[in-house]
Amino acid sequence: MSTIRVTTPAATYDVHIAPGLLRTLYLRLRRLTPGKTPRLFVVTSPQIWALWHKAFLASFPAAQQPTVLFIPAGESHKRLATVESLAQQLALAGADRDSILLAFGGGVIGDVTGFLAAIYMRGIRYVGLPTTLLAQVDSSLGGKTGVNLLAGKNLIGAFHHPLAVFSDIDLLATLPPAELRAGLQEAIKSAIIRNAKLFRYMEQNASEILSSNPKSGAPYLDSEMWDSTALQKVVTASVRVKAEVVSQDEKESGLRMVLNFGHTIGHAIEAATHYRKLLHGEAVAWGSIAALHVSLARQRVKPEEFARMANLILRYGPIPPFKADPAKLVALTGSDKKKRSGRRAFVLATGIGRTEVAYDVTDAELLAATKAMLNTMRANPEKSQ
Ligand SMILES: NC(=O)c1ccc[n+]([C@@H]2O[C@H](COP(=O)([O-])OP(=O)(O)OC[C@H]3O[C@@H](n4cnc5c(N)ncnc54)[C@H](O)[C@@H]3O)[C@@H](O)[C@H]2O)c1
Ligand SMILES: [Zn+2]
Repeated sequence: MSTIRVTTPAATYDVHIAPGLLRTLYLRLRRLTPGKTPRLFVVTSPQIWALWHKAFLASFPAAQQPTVLFIPAGESHKRLATVESLAQQLALAGADRDSILLAFGGGVIGDVTGFLAAIYMRGIRYVGLPTTLLAQVDSSLGGKTGVNLLAGKNLIGAFHHPLAVFSDIDLLATLPPAELRAGLQEAIKSAIIRNAKLFRYMEQNASEILSSNPKSGAPYLDSEMWDSTALQKVVTASVRVKAEVVSQDEKESGLRMVLNFGHTIGHAIEAATHYRKLLHGEAVAWGSIAALHVSLARQRVKPEEFARMANLILRYGPIPPFKADPAKLVALTGSDKKKRSGRRAFVLATGIGRTEVAYDVTDAELLAATKAMLNTMRANPEKSQ
């Protein structure tokens, strides 16, 4: 098992990564809360629960079964109405200040449950049990929680760190392959910004990492086809990158911005395609290619390193193509939340595992890079279909 500590002014907690963690969950939770047994409330979706409830409940004694609350799957349920309904259910079920929520799902369930924990009775504890690769490498740690408004994504929220995170690698066995690949794009981002060793590992072991999840997306947990060793390495290294960054900069005043590599144009692509055509990680993949083009045009990165980074992103495809006017994409970057006091922070790659933040990237540079990215998309139809 790998254990990585996150240390921020607000909280210190461990992220545990290993296959089979669910089967010993109850004991692990007891160890976190010595003394009185707190009431436990699982927040999950019917789909995830159907796949995994047996493993989840295996370690709980009959008298200590957790109460299960459901959220329907999908980003459209990441909203205040869901939080209110869950809070109401918690209150009716007798949840008190000592109760602990268990966020058992992907980033949507993690963000909603973390926010619910942040505000229920002015704040109770929660534990992250991320079930998607994106949630394991990114959204389950760092303390950002919240919901969407019709006016925009993640506009309401709070910083509220989990008590601990348990990332059971086996859960990834049932992920649809596209979700797995989208999560791997966030791992590539971590490698590009801060971990050249992870980058080389992902370059050299691409087929092993990609084949760890068989094409059909069916549960392969008991099959010999499931080998989680390579994925565990990737998750662990990515978590280490994020843990180091948020430990140094909890609230995104400086260093934490590097986590947004590929996200300025990635968010614009998501908005331009109405959040329907691409998964977040897929939009970030194209956004990263555009960010690499900005870095190349500024001569901040060597052409050979540029090529290795762009090729790795494409290697973990197919990344679905999309249609959008480059000028519109650039215009959409203006509404990016990360733009502060009129200055846009743009993360450049200066080498494999190295970045810098630039505040003077112009719309003209973004337009050129966006066009170059769209050319890459056209030139790689077999890799992006
Ligand atoms: N808080 C943060 O720091 C942070 C960071 C990045 C992203 N996010 C948020 O995360 C959300 C996206 O998260 P996501 O990509 O995990 O999407 P998601 O939670 O919507 O899950 C994707 C899909 O996979 C299914 N699923 C989940 N686990 C499964 C499993 N083990 N087997 C089979 N199917 C499974 C879900 O039912 C869903 O249909 C967005 O709302 C985004 O804003 C938050
Ligand atoms: Zn992201």
